[in-house]
Amino acid sequence: MKLCTTSFEGAADAGLDRLVACASWPLSESALAYFPDARSATSDRDLDAGARTGGLEGSTAMPDHIPVLLDRCVELLAPALTRNDSDGSGAVLLDATLGAGGHSERFLTEFPGLRLIGLDRDPNALWIAGERLSRFGDRVLLVRTRYDGIEGALAQTGYWAREDDPGFVQGILFDLGVSSMQLDRTERGFSYASDAPLDMRMDPDAPLTAADVLNTYDERALARLLREFGEERFASRIASQIARRRASRPFTTTAELVELLYQAIPAPARRTGGHPAKRTFQALRIAVNGELDSLRDAVPAALEALTPGGRIVVMAYQSLEDRIVKNQFAAATASKTPPGLPVELPGHEPEFVALTRGAERAGAEEIALNPRSASVRLRALEKVGEPR
Ligand SMILES: C[S@@+](CC[C@H](N)C(=O)[O-])C[C@H]1O[C@@H](n2cnc3c(N)ncnc32)[C@H](O)[C@@H]1O
Repeated sequence: MKLCTTSFEGAADAGLDRLVACASWPLSESALAYFPDARSATSDRDLDAGARTGGLEGSTAMPDHIPVLLDRCVELLAPALTRNDSDGSGAVLLDATLGAGGHSERFLTEFPGLRLIGLDRDPNALWIAGERLSRFGDRVLLVRTRYDGIEGALAQTGYWAREDDPGFVQGILFDLGVSSMQLDRTERGFSYASDAPLDMRMDPDAPLTAADVLNTYDERALARLLREFGEERFASRIASQIARRRASRPFTTTAELVELLYQAIPAPARRTGGHPAKRTFQALRIAVNGELDSLRDAVPAALEALTPGGRIVVMAYQSLEDRIVKNQFAAATASKTPPGLPVELPGHEPEFVALTRGAERAGAEEIALNPRSASVRLRALEKVGEPR
């Protein structure tokens, strides 16, 4: 297996700005030093984001992040991966959100000829997935990048040589959001259920932390962020209390923020709509990681990378991300023939067909086993054209 790592100069920077290393797997001791969290994988069931308690720091156990809608993902992508050969030979699957490698492992097992490129911005995830997928040897290539760096990552793997090359990937999977391991690692600050530094960076080398946002954004920008990214109806009130509180003492921990939210949100509202910190934590996480911008740029790049007959599946867990996917998929499946013309103009046909009617949800049985699947919205497309 090969592991290609990249790093970023800023959260707003897209993709691959600096190649740090491209090492063979397993990693050497010196490379391990680059992955400081690598020896402490954690394990727990996935629950509502942020509501989790602390993890199993120091454990080397494999995480049991339960892959969502796994059978459905295989069912949707299999026709594209097996067009040349039923064992997936000659096909490439791009897992744009590798995480613990749960989805990837299933595809590699089910299709013994399939090759996989796995992306993640979190080096800890790459390490965990790397261990899990090591038995698949050189069928697996892992790249540390934000997923809006798809094009650069593919070029880096040697698969996509020139910008004007047509897409070559048969399948693409996005399983958005944070993983169980990220929530479990208390010190990363994603969870409002335990006290930790206000960090929330998926890429620990990115420059902006949640504390930076809370302590430096002006009150109006904070209110807008809470409203837009958290859909928080008490956004102005919370922002005003944050501004007042930080004037005497800057925020450093999640517990300080949770305490403030209990004071800022009126008691009747606290009793409905989930944990009072849920929306603020979501908003901060989206801002710290540039999640919406990253997705907005990644979907067109992914559609471009697909070969004709190739398929893409995207699973979103919150409405803001799902809206981006829905709108971009609607544009991709729309005809470019001007409205009102009686026939389709040649070259103006839709480039993609939808494989799902609207968004698909998880069933009651899966939700009972894996509460994280309760909020999933799955959408899938196939690229039109003669498969190469
Ligand atoms: C829900 S987990 C994926 C779980 C995986 N499907 C599995 O079965 O183990 C999402 C992963 O995507 C990564 N991720 C989120 N946003 C990203 C981005 N913009 N670029 C690259 N990776 C990202 C996170 O670091 C996390 O590891």
